[in-house]
This record gives sequence, C-alpha cells and structure tokens, in this order.
Amino acid sequence: MDVNVANYERIVFFTGAGMSAESGVPTYRGAGGIWKEYDYLTYACQDAFDRDPSAVWDFHNYRRELVGQCQPNLGHKLIAACEKNYPAMTIVTQNIDGLHQLAGSNSVIELHGSLWRVRDERIGVRKTTRDSPFDAQQSNGSFWRPDIVWFGDMLDEAVLSDAVRVISNCDLFVSIGTSAVVYPAAQLPLLAKDAGALCIEINPEETPLSSLYDLTLRTAASTALEQLCS
Ligand code: OAD
Repeated sequence: MDVNVANYERIVFFTGAGMSAESGVPTYRGAGGIWKEYDYLTYACQDAFDRDPSAVWDFHNYRRELVGQCQPNLGHKLIAACEKNYPAMTIVTQNIDGLHQLAGSNSVIELHGSLWRVRDERIGVRKTTRDSPFDAQQSNGSFWRPDIVWFGDMLDEAVLSDAVRVISNCDLFVSIGTSAVVYPAAQLPLLAKDAGALCIEINPEETPLSSLYDLTLRTAASTALEQLCS
C-alpha cells in the first residue's frame, strides 16, 4: 500500500518512546529500557514521592540531564514540517521529553505530562523549567513535583478529552514507537479505527495492537516517516 500524508487532512501522529530512540532517549521497555534499570515503585509513583521526594528527584534530574543533551531527530523534524502544510494535524504523544516542540511542532497533546514542568498541588501552581538539575525543595521545605503522569495516576481529564476529540475525528492515524501496553493511551488507536481513519503502525516490532492497523511499517521512525511525508 502506497500512502502519502498529502492525501489526508486530519492527521494524528500518536507517538511513544520509540519516536525519540534515534535521538538517544532510552525507551522504557525492551533492551536498555528505563524500567529494567530503575524500579518505578521507587522512582515513578506518588507513594515513592511521598516517601522520599529526594530519591524521586535524583532520578528525574538524571533524566533531565540525559534528555537535555538529546536533539530532535529526522522523524521529529519531518512531523514538524508536516504541520506547516496540514494545519489540522495533531501530535498526541506519550513522551515527556519535549522533543516534538523542540523540533518546531506546536500542536502537541502531552498525555503523560512533561519532564520540563513541575507543579505544587498545595498552591495549585505549575511552571516550566529546563533547569538541570532542578532544585525541587522550596524555602518552606516542601518539594515541587514533576508534572508527569506516574504509575497509578489518572490522566489529566482535559488533556485526555482533547486527545479523544482529535483522534475520533482523524482520517489518518499514524502510531509511532509505542509498545501499546500502557492504558488508557493504548486504547486510543481504537477510536481512530472506529472513526474509519486509515491506521498505520510504525514500529520495528510487533505490538499487542498490530492487528488493528491497515498498514504496518516494521522500521525505525525516521525511515518510515521519510516514506510517508515525502
Ligand atoms: P515503550 O518503551 O514501552 O515502547 C517503545 C516502543 O518503541 C517499542 O515497541 C519499540 O519496539 C519501539 N521502538 C524502538 N526503537 C524504535 C525506533 N527507532 N522507531 C520506532 N519504534 C521504535 O514506550 P511507550 O510505549 O512510549 O509512561 O511507553 C508508554 C509509557 O510507559 C510511557 O509514556 C511511560 C512508560 O511508563 C510514563 O512515563 C508516564
């Protein structure tokens, strides 16, 4: 099947960690995956933060330093270029690395929050900071919390409903580099299928959702995007 984004209007790129793999950002699962080395129960859940915020921040500051050195790859740039030609294009990402925005994309829905945002729930404040390391302890002793959806957290309702709206209305849905095992994100491609969109999966490996797709490109994100976007 020969597909080109030029034949579609309402395009959704649905991205996961594999999108940033070619930038040098480790994925979560598989060889070299973050959760193989770091136990999320110690570093990426609310209980861990309540127990030992410093340890959780050591992990997130390590990630800030690592991701801060990474640049958008060709795939991010091709998607950003696409947005200029197709105003009704949206990126729905599970990534917290901010690389789509760094590549120049504006229409980005961040399902799982951002490594570059922090919040203080007591006073209802969020702020963006690229400080690395970020000094999370405030003068009153309390800690800023990474504005990230950790294990066990609910997704932000407004963010999720934005994602549901654009995916339910798309005519082309391109999933890139996600293992499709984390819910509710993993359910979203079903909405595109129900809407009658052409659904494409870009992933070197098969996923539990592969059979849903009309076309699967078993290659790296940038290679497949060169094919779709040129
Ligand atoms: P995973 O690490 O679970 O999966 C990454 C996927 O990318 C795998 O299916 C790989 O086969 C694929 N992949 C690897 N290199 C690739 C490349 N160059 N091009 C295309 N695909 C490639 O990452 P996610 O599915 O994004 O949540 O994980 C979902 C969520 O689980 C994350 O958002 C994170 C994690 O816990 C939070 O941090 C809240």
